[in-house]
Amino acid sequence: MANIILGIESSCDDTSAAVIKDGYLLSNVIASQEVHRSYGGVVPELASRAHELNIVPVVSEALSRAKLKPEDLTAIAFTRGPGLLGSLLVGTSFAKAMGLALDIPIVMVNHLQGHLLASFIRQEGVEVREPKFPYLCLLVSGGNSQIVKVTSPLEFEILGQTIDDAVGEAFDKCSKMMGLGYPGGPIIDKLAKNGDPKRFKFSKPHVEGLNYSFSGIKTSLLYFVRDQVAIDPDFVEKNKEDICASFQTALIDILMDKLIKAAKQTGIKEISIGGGVSANSALRERMLLEARKRAWNVYLPEFKFTTDNAAMIAIAGYHHFLAGESTPLDVAPVSRMADF
Ligand code: KG4
Repeated sequence: MANIILGIESSCDDTSAAVIKDGYLLSNVIASQEVHRSYGGVVPELASRAHELNIVPVVSEALSRAKLKPEDLTAIAFTRGPGLLGSLLVGTSFAKAMGLALDIPIVMVNHLQGHLLASFIRQEGVEVREPKFPYLCLLVSGGNSQIVKVTSPLEFEILGQTIDDAVGEAFDKCSKMMGLGYPGGPIIDKLAKNGDPKRFKFSKPHVEGLNYSFSGIKTSLLYFVRDQVAIDPDFVEKNKEDICASFQTALIDILMDKLIKAAKQTGIKEISIGGGVSANSALRERMLLEARKRAWNVYLPEFKFTTDNAAMIAIAGYHHFLAGESTPLDVAPVSRMADF
């Protein structure tokens, strides 16, 4: 009998539901919340309310696109954390209620594990190209910057991580400082394409081992912009492409230095990336460049699987389900990784 898994993701500001049948994606619906744009960042209370409005239509749409009824489902996978607690509560409560009503198992998924396994989402008509275990994943998003060693679909080890801000936050704050809008990553990515990446220099952190730090470079940009604007009020407008290109290159250099170090230390040449920042075009190019230089096999997820989506939660849940796992109905969401 086929295993049909409904995935539910609600950890931050995207409400998403997806259906996976025996590892193959049938549907993936994402409702992004526009309400945060005018605030320049995600407002947790507004995110929870929007999830509450979106969850029923998003799940219905995912089932309808998959041409399935709720009774066809084998199990429901949901993001238990990490993320915003109010947002996670909506997805978790919905999964529990639906599992109870249908009398089918629910399976909790760590959001980060979803990003790690995004390369394993199979699609009809798309060539299967999956990393071999063990592989390294550079997990870069608005909340995380980590190098993770993935030994099997269910086993992973964090080799290094940020000691302060995430790299996505650095992109978002840079954009905010320059008055460019939110979320900053895609805006900076676009402007950087026409800029000179060598024009400005930003101080790089010195952090032990495979850990990262992005708070210093953010401050370095803040002082740089402040000082230049004091001399010429139009400095940002006149130079935004070069600032974006230089800042983005500095962030990518920081990420890649540690990833190269991790690959050398572990001897692993199977490398993937995941998380919202893995949509960055310059980072993807740099990964391919390093792959040629260092004989790495690099796996870049499709753009639709880089940002938060339920397809990755469904595929991770599928592997947990195959391993015989299910989650009791008294489960509660957790906001921090350490609580898993
Ligand atoms: O994984 P994600 O959707 O949400 C979580 O943080 O969980 O990641 C969002 C982050 C934001 O910081 C956004 O600015 C960044 O990913 N991002 C990008 C790009 N697209 C999204 N950063 C750089 N370049 C991009 N093209």
